[in-house]
Amino acid sequence: MMVNERYHSYILLEPLGDSLPQRRTSRHVHVSCLAYVVLAGLFIASVVLNIVHFVRSTHSPPAPLDDYQQLKLYPLLNESTIPSLSEDFWRSAAVVTTLYSDSYAPAVATLGHSLRLVHTSARLVLLYIPSKVSTEALCIATSSGFVAYPVERIPPPTHSHGMHEQYADQYTKLRLWSLDVLPDPITSLVYVDSDTLVLHNFDELFSLPYTFAAAPDVWLGQRGFTLEFNAGVLFLRPDSRLFNSMLAALEIARYPPGWAEQAFLNQYFATDVLRLPLAYNGNLVIKERTPNVWDSLQGEMRIIHYTMIKPFLSSDGKGMPLDRLEERVRAAAEELRGVYREEVLQWGDMWRETRRVYADRLRECIIR
Ligand SMILES: *[C@@H]1O[C@H](CO)[C@@H](O)[C@H](O)[C@H]1NC(C)=O
Repeated sequence: MMVNERYHSYILLEPLGDSLPQRRTSRHVHVSCLAYVVLAGLFIASVVLNIVHFVRSTHSPPAPLDDYQQLKLYPLLNESTIPSLSEDFWRSAAVVTTLYSDSYAPAVATLGHSLRLVHTSARLVLLYIPSKVSTEALCIATSSGFVAYPVERIPPPTHSHGMHEQYADQYTKLRLWSLDVLPDPITSLVYVDSDTLVLHNFDELFSLPYTFAAAPDVWLGQRGFTLEFNAGVLFLRPDSRLFNSMLAALEIARYPPGWAEQAFLNQYFATDVLRLPLAYNGNLVIKERTPNVWDSLQGEMRIIHYTMIKPFLSSDGKGMPLDRLEERVRAAAEELRGVYREEVLQWGDMWRETRRVYADRLRECIIR
């Protein structure tokens, strides 16, 4: 009776089948089977979703520059749309580079010669930190036409822990914005790193209506072509008030300290930077990253930027005596699997020409 009642209530719940005790066992098996299947399903789904998420986070869709197809065969510029600027204008326009170490002096001399060859209309201005540069190095750097202006070093801000040591003087670059108060003021300028060479005239930059422009940065590996700009080539309009506001912002800005002034400038100009075509900052990284982008830039490249390899420094980054530079260029051409042979030799050719054209002045530099 008791037994029957128990089975009775059971049957009410599941009024099926004939051999009840047997059914009960098989139902238990069913339920736990189902639970295992659901758990296993959840586990597999979670593994799959994690893999998908991981792959997605490491594989973004191809950037146009990584999937480069040379579709546009039009020139970069229409020359007839460039306004002609007065002689007055050009007096306050400058191409500016910097010298913070003797080791870059031959690079600045070579850069100056390359600017002369393309008949740049602007003044050539070299900012240097007097305590860091010898008279001899300054003499070499200015031999081809740069006019030197001493500037006070701007030290890295207090929160610079983790900054790459070679950028310790680079905050001095901010002085560019203060050049409107020189006795002979500069009101627009193109800044070029001293590890660059000019291949074509870029006077058109001075007609930009903007106050700040730079070309996007490029990295090897996953980072690739970025939205951040490279601070090796800049167009800007000096403005002391902006300079002061920048110095004030320097102490409160949050940005990765490793890349020093470049990271700060990216943070400071954030939404307000005009993107320049890559032809204005032919960063050697592009060649290794996406060779056909590099190839397509060749005809239009204004400025080549020796980021990956410095043909004027020893392989451990030291300065070279002038009479050993050619030997160094030949060795540098074979470094990094010879990827940059052509560009390194191109720098070597320009240096040889610089040395020949300014031979007398360079000799005086060394004798003094
Ligand atoms: C350059 O611009 C001028 C004036 O706007 C135009 O007439 C000419 O066709 C353009 N040339 C090219 C090659 O696009």
